[in-house]
Amino acid sequence: MSQHSAKRIEQLIGAMTVEEKIGQLNMLTANLAVTGPVMPGDYMGPLKAGKLGSMFNLYGVDLTRQVQRVAVEETRLGIPLFFGYDVIHGHRTVFPIPLAEAAAFDPALWERSARIAAIESAAEGLMLVFAPMLDVSRDPRWGRISESAGEDTWLTERLAEAKVRGFQGPDLTAPDSVATTAKHLAAYGAVLAGRDYAQTEVSERAFHETYLPPFKAAIEAGCPALMPAFTDLEGVPMTANRAVLHDLVRGEWGFDGIYISDYNAIAELVAHGVAADIADAAALALKAGIDVDMMASAYTNGLPIALERGTVTMADLDAAVRRVLAFKARLGLFEDPYREKAPQLTAGQRAEFREAARDAARRSMVLLSNRGGVLPITQAPRRIAVLGPLADNATEMLGPWSGAGRGEEMVSFLDGLRKTWPQSEIKYARGVDIDSEDLSGIPAAFELARQSDLVILCVGEARQMSGEAGCRARPGLPGKQAALADAVLDTGKPVVALLTCGRPLAVSWLFERAGAVLVTWYLGSEAGNAVGDVLSGRWNPSARLPVSWPVDVGQIPVFYSRLPTGRPFAANIRYTSKYLDIPNEPLFPFGHGLSYTRFKVSNLRAGPAELRRGGAVTIDVDVANDGKVAGEETVLLFVRDPVATLSRPVLELKGMAKITLGPGERGSVRLKLTTDDLSFIGTDLEPRLESGTFEIFVGPSAKKEDLLQTTIRLLAS
Ligand code: BGC
Repeated sequence: MSQHSAKRIEQLIGAMTVEEKIGQLNMLTANLAVTGPVMPGDYMGPLKAGKLGSMFNLYGVDLTRQVQRVAVEETRLGIPLFFGYDVIHGHRTVFPIPLAEAAAFDPALWERSARIAAIESAAEGLMLVFAPMLDVSRDPRWGRISESAGEDTWLTERLAEAKVRGFQGPDLTAPDSVATTAKHLAAYGAVLAGRDYAQTEVSERAFHETYLPPFKAAIEAGCPALMPAFTDLEGVPMTANRAVLHDLVRGEWGFDGIYISDYNAIAELVAHGVAADIADAAALALKAGIDVDMMASAYTNGLPIALERGTVTMADLDAAVRRVLAFKARLGLFEDPYREKAPQLTAGQRAEFREAARDAARRSMVLLSNRGGVLPITQAPRRIAVLGPLADNATEMLGPWSGAGRGEEMVSFLDGLRKTWPQSEIKYARGVDIDSEDLSGIPAAFELARQSDLVILCVGEARQMSGEAGCRARPGLPGKQAALADAVLDTGKPVVALLTCGRPLAVSWLFERAGAVLVTWYLGSEAGNAVGDVLSGRWNPSARLPVSWPVDVGQIPVFYSRLPTGRPFAANIRYTSKYLDIPNEPLFPFGHGLSYTRFKVSNLRAGPAELRRGGAVTIDVDVANDGKVAGEETVLLFVRDPVATLSRPVLELKGMAKITLGPGERGSVRLKLTTDDLSFIGTDLEPRLESGTFEIFVGPSAKKEDLLQTTIRLLAS
């Protein structure tokens, strides 16, 4: 921060009343979108009285400028507000949900969609997004898995960096930049039994090794705001967790940005049972380091009492105000409160953005099964039936966080497929609703399927069935969709099933019967066109699962980087680690995803064979496209430390690389491994690097049998 800004901030703090100081820490929603349980009556009153420092759920350049004008011209000190919003997977142009985008395994794509979302949201007066969401998620029952990059820490770290780069660009004061808020610090994804806002049970070591690294990566990439999780760590709610927020993240990591509480989370410290009243809650949060109170009015109502009680000091309050004002300075708001040069979008740019959304969408859908090569449909048959409740449903394509997206601007599957195959006779029947008991539409859908040469069956979840508070104990097909699917499959016609969902669905039966199954997640603005690209073979699917796909709910949580057991699975030995009724392994492993061509990865070379602390290994493999069409292959790099002072995971992702090859073409990819990649968090919570042999695995997925393997030696001392 410049000396000028620092001086100005001190002058402002010196001139402020206690109410005005607390006001800077107060953030209210403007109700343009509903994202939480409590609503304010009026925000203009507190704003004019200097009792409001920032707002969210308010966008549109006229509206934001109008409200900013009140802050700048009608309050005693004229301090500008900042405006935040949940721009989770696009703003006006809607991109695939994060879980889908993660499946692209492509930092350049993650960065590009964030850049576009930044331009669009900056154009609407926004300065801050409540993204990226960085909660490692291993439980498909939890609705918020849809907002995450899935089960892997390393992949989430890469997503964190790419998203921060994309949203913020090189300069936070640039008119097309928006600041990021990495959320939700941390281990929110570990809620027990996948129920939102519930207790977590995570060891401190796992907290450090599995859940924290993406936040560190975001901070190192320049993320200036963090949002603590609603949940607790060992009984201490994150909103009051001074040891993590203050001592670790601010103290040890050197984070100098702001903490924004989650929605009403400070008041909820009372419900958590760690605060007796709102003043107590406010004191705990302020002491922990929370600078901005989102929607609890706990600071407004509680801090004056806490000051009187002596549970917080004026110095505590001033420190938080100083950080909020420094954040505003960092955004350049004192110089340009109205963001005068906010981008004005042209029709050409909007078309370009939609093209990017289409590209992101086709790179995000994972071809899970393709029995007998039903796909691609290069020669479209004459009569095609497009069936199911998600077929002609543009609004559902928005996904759980729609930003400023509009249902009517999304391309439905039906529309996209009609454009893809104009010569075919495409007929549609809904069959059943997404979630009702009504079976009356099934006979018509069955009849249509019977009269067709090909069926595209569009089933799945409604968008509100995932995302926040969108948990499902039984993540399968809701309502009577399974009955519709059964009826259609009974016709014996070739059936391609498109799964619209925010999580892996436990529908093993569908994979046994359908010709092909493609998980489309929620693809956003260009859903139908992108699906047309993939089904017709104009795009060869390249996405991979960022999360293991369970055989059955009973396996959850099932994830690849588990610790080895002392009694590994053995089919014929009873006392080994297994279920009596279902397999241990997921139906599809992390990294699974089919292509229309066949890639062969071979000739693994790793060197040097012996490594010292601070060194690096270079890993090369050859990749051949042995099929008939061009395609993109993703090569994953895993490591394993077979003997260490702590039991280490059976596999850990440490690298990825992509290569595009024409039919019959060969090439090679290079990956790198540093000694940092071989270290782990010890019981003292410090990184450890231990000498010994390390196994290196390279290949398409976390299925060990499909991986090439070699070893290197590390001399750590
Ligand atoms: C969610 C956050 C979100 C906030 C503001 C909360 O309920 O947990 O992820 O940023 O609302 O809408």
